[in-house]
Amino acid sequence: MVKICCIGAGYVGGPTMAVIALKCPNVEVAVVDISVPRITAWNSDTLPIYEPGLDEVVKQCRGKNLFFSTDVEKHVREADIVFVSVNTPTKTRGLGAGKAADLTYWESAARMIADVSVSDKIVVEKSTVPVKTAEAIEKILTHNSKGIKFQILSNPEFLAEGTAIEDLFHPDRVLIGGRETPEGFKAVNALKDVYAQWVPEDRILTTNLWSAELTKLAANAFLAQRISSVNAMSALCEATGANVTEVSFAVGKDSRIGPKFLNSSVGFGGSCFQKDILNLVYICECNGLPEVAEYWKQVIKINDYQKTRFVNRIVSSMFNTVSNKKIAVLGFAFKKDTGDTRETPAIDVCKGLLGDKARISIYDPQVTEEQIQRDLTMNKFDWDHPLHLQPMSPTTVKQVSVAWDAYAATKDAHGICLLTEWEEFKTLDYERIFENMQKPAFVFDGRNVVDAEKLRKIGFIVYSIGKPLDQWLKDMPALA
Ligand code: NAI
Repeated sequence: MVKICCIGAGYVGGPTMAVIALKCPNVEVAVVDISVPRITAWNSDTLPIYEPGLDEVVKQCRGKNLFFSTDVEKHVREADIVFVSVNTPTKTRGLGAGKAADLTYWESAARMIADVSVSDKIVVEKSTVPVKTAEAIEKILTHNSKGIKFQILSNPEFLAEGTAIEDLFHPDRVLIGGRETPEGFKAVNALKDVYAQWVPEDRILTTNLWSAELTKLAANAFLAQRISSVNAMSALCEATGANVTEVSFAVGKDSRIGPKFLNSSVGFGGSCFQKDILNLVYICECNGLPEVAEYWKQVIKINDYQKTRFVNRIVSSMFNTVSNKKIAVLGFAFKKDTGDTRETPAIDVCKGLLGDKARISIYDPQVTEEQIQRDLTMNKFDWDHPLHLQPMSPTTVKQVSVAWDAYAATKDAHGICLLTEWEEFKTLDYERIFENMQKPAFVFDGRNVVDAEKLRKIGFIVYSIGKPLDQWLKDMPALA
């Protein structure tokens, strides 16, 4: 029986390994982590992450060929294939701070693999890493190997949170990069055999190591670039009376462009896009390519601009101040169907409103009060470290309260900000909400989820990103 161990039981390691265990009954999979609460949760009825379909997959395999453990060394020692899916945050200090990837956790995992191994192993980069990381990892492993042979593969993960299980069941592609040597090809084929148990062969792509590493950064940069492109257009739509939904639909009909990932919003979030683009920018700079670096930097600048623009629109339309006004924030996760709040635009929007002294009442079906308070008090990039290393906020933000449904959050509010596209926000009883709000009552729809015309008929003043503006909003233009 092939034994797989995955270091890192997070949003990637957990679901990916659960699906491998489900699809490969002949493989034994151990997912290990240094975070005791995380592993305890994986072994309980309440998994540490919310992901549609994940519970069923874990329940089918856990205790059979899928195990979660904090005994990292034991499982690494016994494994034939070791996946490394640990955090690769943005560096906050020293060389490359604010851009480069911090490989501390990766390096410590590699040193531990070298220390405890007593047999040859394939080591798989699952984390997103800078191109050429495999070379550094190889050096760590071979210099500490005591004669044991390691083959490094790059197998970046392309799943999207919220649809992770579906993406893992039916991936567009699986990418495996390896050394172009007989041993390298053998290792690539060994990993290919695992995926081939459920992924059609023509969807398993093999490349050299550097192409695989760079593809992951490139794919995230291209995806984020589409969002920043349509968001840039949304500002121009508002200025000209065009409707961004109509524009992106018509643009996406061009088969060279395609319809996906063209929704305008308050901005992209999530743990990957910003981090990976910053990393790409840094790599370009280090390779003497400042023009290329500048090009990709712009994707992040537009994303920041979109969040600022949204806050400015709220403040300016509410008579240029939200001081002491109650603003209901509906949705805090960075997208629907996940409880993940890493780099969610809601953090920046809330901080912007707090800067103008608003009182904020937040409701999200999947995010806890503790998480929200932690996010609003944490420094930039501090969130992307193992849970037990993340600082707990010594204080809470007093102007922020967390409600347990949308009706409580919006009661007596002056305005509503919709920041996550949860399905339930489309079908709320907006007449009831309107009655219980201060007047004039505003809705700022950062995801274009509500039927603006219907809400206007109820009496709301509605701002929808990239859509023609109400007379009220035209009369109170947002200043950048
Ligand atoms: P995460 O923070 O949810 O999980 C990482 C886990 O690794 C944590 O539970 C942490 O305790 C553990 N860990 C760190 N150092 C360790 C060590 N030395 N030994 C044992 N465990 C250790 O992160 P997530 O979201 O799973 O991301 C992991 C990697 O995958 C990152 O490089 C990320 O960029 C990449 N990725 C993330 C995607 C996502 O949607 N979240 C998608 C594709 C790639």
